[in-house]
Amino acid sequence: MKRAILAALGFATGFAAPVAAEEIKVGLLLPFSGVYASLGNDIEAGFNLAIEQFGGETDATFEIVREDTEVKPPVALGKAKKLILQDNVDVMAGIVSSGVLGAVRDMVHGAGVPLIVANAGNDEATGADCSPYITRMSFSNGQVNRPMGTWMYDQGIRKVFTLAPDYAAGRQMIDAFAATFTAAGGEIVGQEFTPFQKTQDFGPYLTQAKSSGAEAVFVFYAGGEAISFVKQYDSFGLKSDLPLYGSGFLTSPLYVEAEGPAAEGVITALHYVPTIDTPANKSFAEAFAAATGRVPSEYAVQGYDAARALIEATKAGATDRETLANALRQVSFEGPRGQMSIDPATNNVVQPIYVYETVAGEKGLTQKVLAQLPAEADPTNGCEMAPVSN
Ligand code: PHB
Repeated sequence: MKRAILAALGFATGFAAPVAAEEIKVGLLLPFSGVYASLGNDIEAGFNLAIEQFGGETDATFEIVREDTEVKPPVALGKAKKLILQDNVDVMAGIVSSGVLGAVRDMVHGAGVPLIVANAGNDEATGADCSPYITRMSFSNGQVNRPMGTWMYDQGIRKVFTLAPDYAAGRQMIDAFAATFTAAGGEIVGQEFTPFQKTQDFGPYLTQAKSSGAEAVFVFYAGGEAISFVKQYDSFGLKSDLPLYGSGFLTSPLYVEAEGPAAEGVITALHYVPTIDTPANKSFAEAFAAATGRVPSEYAVQGYDAARALIEATKAGATDRETLANALRQVSFEGPRGQMSIDPATNNVVQPIYVYETVAGEKGLTQKVLAQLPAEADPTNGCEMAPVSN
């Protein structure tokens, strides 16, 4: 930011007149309360870290207005409306729940305000409901879960019972897994969707899984629900007879320590693990640990890369809603996950997926990578994207 401040004060050399720093107003829409509150906090920590580290590379400065979406689509819609109409933000970032993303999509598209999605995997937002104003730096629900169906079949597993919360993300993640698992020859022997944000006792569902004839269980749970689920699965004594698999959010480094030994041996897949052995990831992990005292999670990296994308867009000269939307779709940079790029057909990020096992390490639980599956772009899923206009 130093360059921007110097320019504003008239210290820029080589120019006849000082260049005014462009102030970009950013609306950060995240859950700071409810079952996904810790996810929102981690995304914000990653976002702020990137602004701190890379903000000086652009002449733009950033004013951030943060709003709590809770995990309630109607609340989030009200907050998005306030950011767009009252605060007049240039760009929005965040959104954790697929339900929230589905609720704000039409308003974002209609108002023409760019949105950088920093978590919510809702397939439709980069599929049938895609928009040139929505760019996703996180993942899609299909992208994270498709590879696991084939991988588990290849491990010799033939019969699986699935569980997930009953809302868009739970249904899409399980559908994606089930599609590739059954296409490979596997069978889904039972499937339940648990009331989202309301299920405290998973016992009845675990009893069903046990008597289903399954050889393994595949689930999606995140945040507070993941902690309760993993602990209950273990205390039910199921783990040894019926191994637990899932989306990697189940055992996120953000809360795996709260799950404790119950998480050991659980095998999941995700687009980021903090153990990726590259200089870019190591320096990110060190800086994030210095700032927060935590190992970075997928949520942290998503917030970090969302802010990086915004910085890159302003470096390319974008200053307002229209130019930011266009530039965001074209960003590419090397981040902790590797070389980041956006698929122009959908505006979803392209990235590899890691299958990892949660194991005991020297300093607590850690992620042992079992397989790295090649970077994959999503199918267009009905997206008819307007071409990038410059
Ligand atoms: C989602 O609702 O899209 C969602 C929420 C939490 C996660 C992943 C996806 O960890």
